[in-house]
Amino acid sequence: MLSKRMEDALNRQINEELYSAYLYQAMSAWAEAENYKGAAKWMAAQAKEEVEHAAKFYNFILERGGKVKLLAIKQPPSEWKSLLEIFEAAYEHEKHITKCINDLYELATRERDYSTQVFLHWFIEEQVEEEAQTLEIAELLRRAGDSTNAILMIDAKLGARE
Ligand code: FEO
Repeated sequence: MLSKRMEDALNRQINEELYSAYLYQAMSAWAEAENYKGAAKWMAAQAKEEVEHAAKFYNFILERGGKVKLLAIKQPPSEWKSLLEIFEAAYEHEKHITKCINDLYELATRERDYSTQVFLHWFIEEQVEEEAQTLEIAELLRRAGDSTNAILMIDAKLGARE
């Protein structure tokens, strides 16, 4: 059985993951409108992954006999200046999510909630990848600078994501 504190914290994480999906979908829409088709596809795929992350928390709460509470999702930004700005913002956001996951783990440890600790292991590993991939793309875009050709090449590469 989940403690009330743990249940509330896991419900807040559903909201964090759904906000992530909202944020990345907004970035996808911006990229699509700017004709960065590859980045639009990449961000749409990322948004879908975030919904799956939310579903993992949702199912875990129910499995542990807890109550799912869907909280209001805040509005994400809709304007960015460049692809670089988008991926820098995505990297900053993933660092925030890593902190959320670490805080959840700390709470589960304090509460001696071993099954939540084991459940969170997947997310701890996932966050390493989430940070690494957004940072790598931001660094490539930083290197591309103002070169339209280089930016379009990176955009094409992003479009290869399944
Ligand atoms: Fe669900 Fe991108 O962290």
